Amino acid sequence: MNDQSPWSFVVASDDTFKMMAEGLQRSSSEHDVHQSPIYQEVVRHLGPNRTVLDIGAGVGRFSVPLAQDSCRITAVEPSEEMRTRLSQALRDTNQFDRVHIIDQAWPTSTPLTAEVALAAFVIQFAPDPIAFVRAMEQSCTRRCILAIHVDALFSQFAPLWEEFPDIPTPPLMPVFSNLYPKLLEAGIVTDVQIIEESHGPQFRDPAQVLSMLTHRLKIQDNPQAQVKLSQWLENHREQWTQPASTRSALLSWAPNHS
Ligand SMILES: C[S@@+](CC[C@H](N)C(=O)[O-])C[C@H]1O[C@@H](n2cnc3c(N)ncnc32)[C@H](O)[C@@H]1O
Repeated sequence: MNDQSPWSFVVASDDTFKMMAEGLQRSSSEHDVHQSPIYQEVVRHLGPNRTVLDIGAGVGRFSVPLAQDSCRITAVEPSEEMRTRLSQALRDTNQFDRVHIIDQAWPTSTPLTAEVALAAFVIQFAPDPIAFVRAMEQSCTRRCILAIHVDALFSQFAPLWEEFPDIPTPPLMPVFSNLYPKLLEAGIVTDVQIIEESHGPQFRDPAQVLSMLTHRLKIQDNPQAQVKLSQWLENHREQWTQPASTRSALLSWAPNHS
């Protein structure tokens, strides 16, 4: 995993990736992705070749149903954990031949092209969001589509940092309010739609959450702090196991090739 941005460095532990992959798989099984405005926006802009570049494809939440709907996909995915699950999902659905998986981070070293370039919930990892978006524009002929979190993930753990005043607060996840002004400054003006999705608890397994937060707090070698963290999680269980609803921004625009 390419972890050059402060945020991607924070979330790049194996446990966090496993948790993220499990969350995406749950989302795939709990929701009919065909009803998702993100999916519908991709389909609306397909051309005659029905080609899609799925940047940061994850476990295939969009790639698999798009392939089932007879699209040809190039799925760019740097994480081995995600690629393994994506390949399995493609085998399970007999769609392996429709999806070409590239094991690189975006922007890739080799040029890729498709009618539609989609990056759903990926740009927050990019060290240079404008370079990320410009490369999307160069790679698609018809439409660029970005989904960006409006509400930061992990915000339910924000009070935790007050319990550990000696530990520097980790960087916050970049969200729509941070990223969209940068796009505007770069002259990239897009259609914007705010979408809301309700889902079950994002965090379920206490051992996984403990491990993920131990990594975030960098207290792997501090058993005393780990006990304190474990107690905090136990005492605040209700707070972090609540079902939630999250808002996202769907950005869509015609690529500028000038
Ligand atoms: C939150 S997941 C979203 C997955 C998928 N787009 C979806 O919405 O279901 C983010 C994915 O982006 C990938 N990723 C992170 N940085 C990336 C980069 N620079 N280029 C491509 N993918 C990246 C991660 O490995 C992860 O699979």
